[in-house]
Amino acid sequence: RTTAVILAGGTGQRVGLSIPKQLLKIAGKAVIEHTLTTFEKADSIDDIIVLMAPGYVPDIEKIVAKAGFRKVKKIIEGGATRNETTERAIAALGEGLAEGEDLNVLFHDAVRPLLSRRVIDDCVVALERFQAVDVAIPSADTIIVTRTHGLDGEFITEIPDRSRLRRGQTPQAFKLSTIKRAYEVAAGDPNFQATDDCSVVLKYLPDVPIHVVAGDEYNMKVTQPVDVFIADKLFQLASAAAPEQVSDEAYRELLTGKTVVVFGG
Ligand code: CTP
Repeated sequence: RTTAVILAGGTGQRVGLSIPKQLLKIAGKAVIEHTLTTFEKADSIDDIIVLMAPGYVPDIEKIVAKAGFRKVKKIIEGGATRNETTERAIAALGEGLAEGEDLNVLFHDAVRPLLSRRVIDDCVVALERFQAVDVAIPSADTIIVTRTHGLDGEFITEIPDRSRLRRGQTPQAFKLSTIKRAYEVAAGDPNFQATDDCSVVLKYLPDVPIHVVAGDEYNMKVTQPVDVFIADKLFQLASAAAPEQVSDEAYRELLTGKTVVVFGG
């Protein structure tokens, strides 16, 4: 079975609204409702669990009840950091699993509401061969590595070859047993620090290859205030029913003034 884990435990400090950004309404629906709709409709996903910012679980329960999402099996509170939220998800997923039984799990940022079903399906297919899968896109920008030097500020120490650089997105997909083991090893490291889940596997299970699936430019993370504006514009490309269908073709049609395609579910 394959379970999607929707990470929504953050409070969105950088967007800086009075509610977590995943509850912000864009194109008539909360950001997280768009995200849940995509997973609910994906044939390759059997179950969904949501980890929500403390105090906001009832908001998700309401959204799920109103939209009638049938795959959502659990809604629980997230942790203080994204990695703690992941750990809570791993614990919740382990409950009720028979001895020796494994699961496919896809961890996805609730605040990436424009994920395509193609990326979801590619992750699930990749899990047939690999225990760990990341989603990434090439970097259009040159990425520089810097070091701060006292009061003089930042200086470049390295400019890695851009052709090999990728920008990591989500989902990040794993066999449950693998990501669980990675976090168990990490628990023994007093200096544990990470911002995503593939880096936990990379560091603590170095023998496990992490396959990379091609992501999508539209799979943006609503992070800064400007992203709310960009996401809103992108949602104009598709009907609210199928935001995951936003594509280069739809965008080109919009730019060339042809009729905007309204996608079916
Ligand atoms: N996340 C989580 N649990 C946390 C922190 C973050 O599940 N303790 C989730 C967020 O809800 C989001 C995703 O991880 O869906 C990506 O994180 P980010 O964009 O950093 O979200 P926030 O932590 O909410 O944002 P900020 O850092 O600006 O406060």
